[in-house]
Amino acid sequence: MKIGIVVGTRPEIIKMAPVIRECKNRGIPYFIIHSNQHYSEEMDSIFFKDLELPNPQYNLCVGSGLHGNQTGNMLIKMEPILIEEKPDVVLVQGDTNTVLAGALAASKLGIKVGHIEAGLRSYDRTMPEETNRIMTDHISDYLFAVGPNQNAILLKEGIDPNKIHTVGNTVSDSLFQHLGISAAKSTILNTLELTAGDYFLVTAHRASNVDIASNLMELLHLLDEMHSNYTGTIVWPIHPRTQSKLKEFNIELPSYLKLIPPVGYLDFIQLQKFAKLILTDSGGIQEEACLLGVPSLTLRENTERPEAVEVGASELVGRNAAKAVKAAKEWLSAGKTSWENPFGDGHVAEHIVDILTGTNSK
Ligand code: UD1
Ligand code: UDP
Repeated sequence: MKIGIVVGTRPEIIKMAPVIRECKNRGIPYFIIHSNQHYSEEMDSIFFKDLELPNPQYNLCVGSGLHGNQTGNMLIKMEPILIEEKPDVVLVQGDTNTVLAGALAASKLGIKVGHIEAGLRSYDRTMPEETNRIMTDHISDYLFAVGPNQNAILLKEGIDPNKIHTVGNTVSDSLFQHLGISAAKSTILNTLELTAGDYFLVTAHRASNVDIASNLMELLHLLDEMHSNYTGTIVWPIHPRTQSKLKEFNIELPSYLKLIPPVGYLDFIQLQKFAKLILTDSGGIQEEACLLGVPSLTLRENTERPEAVEVGASELVGRNAAKAVKAAKEWLSAGKTSWENPFGDGHVAEHIVDILTGTNSK
């Protein structure tokens, strides 16, 4: 069994890391293709370093671009590699353009596709990620669903039940494997002069939130209202997409926002762990906040990850400032920080590799 592993963006590197490590530990032949959809040091190589991952054998150097251009370039560059390497299965993780390209390139060559984090649906077709998820699921041979919600969605869409494996999310493996290392190595709270439990952490990069000037202004108004009500520090490691939109729209940020470049995984775990509250539109951070016992406000109208809301760890507030302030008030007065974990037992990569190789590691 030879496994081709495709990554391209920050969350894919983080969530694929446990699978890469598992292949390495078991001596399973594998190779990594990196599309380089993310390429800035703080979105890319820092994660290979933090997670101690081997360098990818192939780098497609695709970079940024319009959806068709980016996805098309990946397909063109991936095909000859897959023909040459002849993997038995190609693994993709998540819902980015890299995922769709990897799955499509393999599927067209008759190579089996394994989709990690299958079955997520926001039912919002304006999201580019929703198209990528649906298309990838329907050309995959192994659908690694996170939990019962995703299993039910896939069955409802007519996917062969034999292809669906409910395993959890590899986000739990990465987080549990790096919590201790992060605590030992990261000095981010000191560096940023933050007091544990006394700041809000914000991230935002969804096209719907940041690509339209009026929506981005709404989001900033929400932060303004949070600041007026709670005064404490608001830390915002800013995604390059958002940074470039702020520049394009000529938006100046208020000085109470502690704006910092994106940080590495070990630092970001500490920033999350000691935040009073997290405000985010990120998929991975919705999951990690829930796993870490930190309440979050999801800056979206919908989510393909309803579990965090279902277990009482998060609330959908969109860009509605009044809703956010009200939800924050409830969270902070309740002081609740424990709930059921819907995102995996930290051994998800083992389950995935067991299924692919037909073995049982336990
Ligand atoms: C992509 C994914 C999104 C995922 C996110 C994780 C798609 C359609 N989107 O969004 O699902 O949640 O990654 O962060 O696949 N840029 C840099 N340096 C980089 C990468 C990007 O400066 O290393 C800037 C460029 O201006 C680029 C913009 O960010 O145009 C957007 O990058 P892109 O990869 O297209 O989308 P993301 O918003 O990162
Ligand atoms: N992350 C990080 N540094 C940051 C912001 C996020 O290491 O400055 C990590 C975070 O821990 C999570 C992942 O990046 O694992 C989420 O990535 P992102 O929000 O870019 O993408 P999404 O999950 O929304 O696809």
